[in-house]
Amino acid sequence: MSKSAAEFNKNDDGRPPAHVAIIMDGNGRWAQQKGLIRVRGHRRGVDSVRAVTTECARLGVGSLTLYAFSVENWKRPQAEIRILMNLLKKFLIDERPTIMKNNIRLTSIGRIEDMSADVRKELNATEALSAKNRGMVLRLALSYGGRAELADATKRIAREVKAGRLDPDAIDEETIRAFLYDPSLPDPDLLIRTAGEMRVSNFLLWQVSYSELYVTPVCWPDFRERELNEAFADYRRRVRKFGGLERVTVS
Ligand code: FPP
Repeated sequence: MSKSAAEFNKNDDGRPPAHVAIIMDGNGRWAQQKGLIRVRGHRRGVDSVRAVTTECARLGVGSLTLYAFSVENWKRPQAEIRILMNLLKKFLIDERPTIMKNNIRLTSIGRIEDMSADVRKELNATEALSAKNRGMVLRLALSYGGRAELADATKRIAREVKAGRLDPDAIDEETIRAFLYDPSLPDPDLLIRTAGEMRVSNFLLWQVSYSELYVTPVCWPDFRERELNEAFADYRRRVRKFGGLERVTVS
């Protein structure tokens, strides 16, 4: 069957985006719409994390970065923070077989030192267990803020300058990238945000400069394989120019 002109994109190589970043929003609203307490939304949100991670690995996505807990999220009520931390800890333990089966390497970015010792212990254990996996990289952004990341990078750059190891005139974009939490993190090709808000919310500020944005009204607990594939189909219709004029291949 031939594709219609609207469907055809000569830049579409049929591959999924190499790096997908997701702002998982709307757990609370999902619960509220159903007359449930917020924790029920977070719990269902963990099921979406599992579904989306497994589907991304199956489709051949190289990197998936999930905004799991922001620096701003510490302002939430203590009881909700405790629930989110317990869910995270449980996820890090329970998902080890799935992570290993799918050849996923789990890693993290953010002010990890802010996380409690018990969360850090399970995070370190899952990172160590999966360190040799060569499939998709799953990055959890924890106590993460884009501005905090740039402030932390700037502090470390300033220390290098002060110690005489770095010439200020030699600082360029690649220097800054080298001092981010994970210099190996590729720029996201696609940034997905669930629950409809048209905001970047302090996520990967440096890295999303040329990312394609996809905002869906679907709340995170309802965002599953089908919704992910719809986002990828939309992405494949985009033409990426990176500020230039010529058409370039997607991903
Ligand atoms: C937004 O919902 C979501 C979060 C605060 C973080 C996402 C957390 C999870 C999916 C659960 C644990 C994470 C992992 C990786 C196991 P919201 O509470 O801001 O929703 P609202 O804006 O509708 O109130």
